[in-house]
Amino acid sequence: MTDQHKGLGSQAQDSSRAKRLTVPSIRGMKARQERIAMVTAYDATFAQMIDEGGADMLLVGDSLGMVVQGLDSTLPVTVDEMIYHCRAVSRGARRALVVGDLPFMSWQLSTEQALKNAARFLSEGGAQAVKLEGGVEAADTVRKLVRLGIPVVGHVGLTPQSVHAMGGFRVQGKTAEAADGVLADAVAIADAGAFAIVLEGIPSDLAALITARIGIPTIGIGAGVSCDGQVLVCYDLLGLTPNMRPKFVKRYAELYAEGKQAVASYCSEVKSGAFPSAEFAFGNVLRTDDAGRAGQAADVPADAPVPGGYGPTH
Ligand code: KIV
Repeated sequence: MTDQHKGLGSQAQDSSRAKRLTVPSIRGMKARQERIAMVTAYDATFAQMIDEGGADMLLVGDSLGMVVQGLDSTLPVTVDEMIYHCRAVSRGARRALVVGDLPFMSWQLSTEQALKNAARFLSEGGAQAVKLEGGVEAADTVRKLVRLGIPVVGHVGLTPQSVHAMGGFRVQGKTAEAADGVLADAVAIADAGAFAIVLEGIPSDLAALITARIGIPTIGIGAGVSCDGQVLVCYDLLGLTPNMRPKFVKRYAELYAEGKQAVASYCSEVKSGAFPSAEFAFGNVLRTDDAGRAGQAADVPADAPVPGGYGPTH
């Protein structure tokens, strides 16, 4: 499977000109043996950066509870919070398909609850699809959502919303019986109509088996190289999580260290008075006349626009 996958390598896409990827185009990537690159995003600026970097899918993951909100699990994250972040990400993304994560207990109570909450991700959050954690027990819900026009990404294996049931964030499917269970979960979600499925925290050979067995793309995180795609939490990928270094995370930058150094330089320049130098100031409007009285400078019209303001063009 591995060497059959064709890829774009590290070539970034010009997302400002590219058309938005669609559910059928993502599904078709498996048949075309094109690997899928998915990254989480939680706000518009990161979404734009990750989109321009070439990611095919942006996941507004409930991992935001841990990396943005500072929680120790994803369980307290609410639907309203997810929709808020989804809206921001949708504004920043142009080419990538945006997927919103249904948080803990936001779909299990009834079909009505599942449909209502999932629909909000599309209508209010601007997402093109939702993701939900669960296997055989989630299949009926997935089927209903898909039939009503809400595309679904499944998520099996290590499902962080079940952290207490699993006894921690532990690799799943390690015994033959447990592996059969994860396979059955993946097959059930694929049969229910999901267009892709996240495989998290499972042995690489089990992920390879599932990838070969089901017709939809598998997107791995801690599931080895044989999956049809990979997903990482953007804070991990960029080196923004100094206290966490899971085995499956490769850091492609060290932005926490770089950011901390930049802030230290700023603080030092503020305290010494080196910032803002003339280059970062708007100049003088008043001049002092010969008698030491302040007045309007002749060369600065009173109605001259101030070239400032916080926005994308300044
Ligand atoms: O919430 C999340 O970011 C996720 C990914 C880790 C797959 O579910």
